[in-house]
Amino acid sequence: MNIQEFFGIELPVIQAPMAGVQASALAIAVSNAGGMGSLPCAMLTIESLRAELQAITAQTQRPYNVNFFCHTPSAPDAAREAKWRAVLAPYYAEFGIDPASVQAGSGRAPFSSEHAELLATFRPPVVSFHFGLPAPALVQRVKSWGAKVIASATTVAEARWLEANGADAIIAQGLEAGGHRGLFLSDDLTTQVGTLALLPQVLRAVRVPVIAAGGIADAQGVKAALALGAAGVQVGTSYLLCPEATTTALHRAALQSDRAEHTALTNLITGRPARGMYNRLMRELGALSDAPPAFPLATSALMPLKAAAEKLGRDDFPTLWAGQNASGCREIPAAELTRQLAST
Ligand SMILES: Cc1cc2nc3c(=O)[nH]c(=O)nc-3n(C[C@H](O)[C@H](O)[C@H](O)COP(=O)(O)O)c2cc1C
Repeated sequence: MNIQEFFGIELPVIQAPMAGVQASALAIAVSNAGGMGSLPCAMLTIESLRAELQAITAQTQRPYNVNFFCHTPSAPDAAREAKWRAVLAPYYAEFGIDPASVQAGSGRAPFSSEHAELLATFRPPVVSFHFGLPAPALVQRVKSWGAKVIASATTVAEARWLEANGADAIIAQGLEAGGHRGLFLSDDLTTQVGTLALLPQVLRAVRVPVIAAGGIADAQGVKAALALGAAGVQVGTSYLLCPEATTTALHRAALQSDRAEHTALTNLITGRPARGMYNRLMRELGALSDAPPAFPLATSALMPLKAAAEKLGRDDFPTLWAGQNASGCREIPAAELTRQLAST
């Protein structure tokens, strides 16, 4: 079954949830255009989640998706935190930041019963998860109002696990994808494969609809994924220049430059591997390193550096998330981009 029938939408395109670079405006525009808009909730407080859900339900009658991370929070480890701060010390000095002023904190909270309670009052039609699924009782709670539960798989084994544990559809996230890898059964990056290799294997392994994600950036790419048997596509990077996204000016400029041709997976920013444009931090520390604390505890130590660099207009330091194919980024309204992606 294709995602138009499955979710009750018109076009085979889901706008990928992208924490940090969008809020409800992008989701509303895509849903109203006939695709499915997504609200990334991993970095929202309960209060801001409520406000965003109010904005969505006031501005669209169409199906939409809310997205959460469902990692197990790591316990703070003072020795690792100290090691990480020591690695960052030269950068703090360079930007005139007092290391003692740098706050600890996690930055990204996993899906919880508090979230589920709030969602129950809005009854979103689709809830998606990254890094596996929450506890079975929470999955059941979300399904209790009829929501469809979808989640990212980065390997065939993860797709099978998600189907066995209640996912109604699976997002096959190829290695090209921007942002965090959704991997959750293994942290071995050698298990990760590209979209063209992953999609047919996942399709053979599960019965639920499979949505292709990673590197899809134009109508030809959408058609190719559908021809391989995908029920629909989830597209992230291509939406980053839309006026409804909150992508910073630095990030927008980099996406329109040659820099967008070179991305890497890095765990330096949050502690989990995620794809962004190759930058100075990755070059000097190694994109994959054992220095940062476990996800999501690495985030807070970098925040003041990111802010200071951005203030100076320097793009060599802030993380500029992007997938391997930024060629579909257009400075056009999200509705138009959605229609272009779905054009035959
Ligand atoms: C800037 C950015 C932020 C992202 N944040 C999230 C997120 O919060 N939750 C999530 O499930 N996926 C997130 N992703 C991954 C997307 O869901 C999706 O897998 C990816 O965008 C597809 O590949 P593409 O970027 O090549 O289109 C993010 C991707 C990008 C580019």
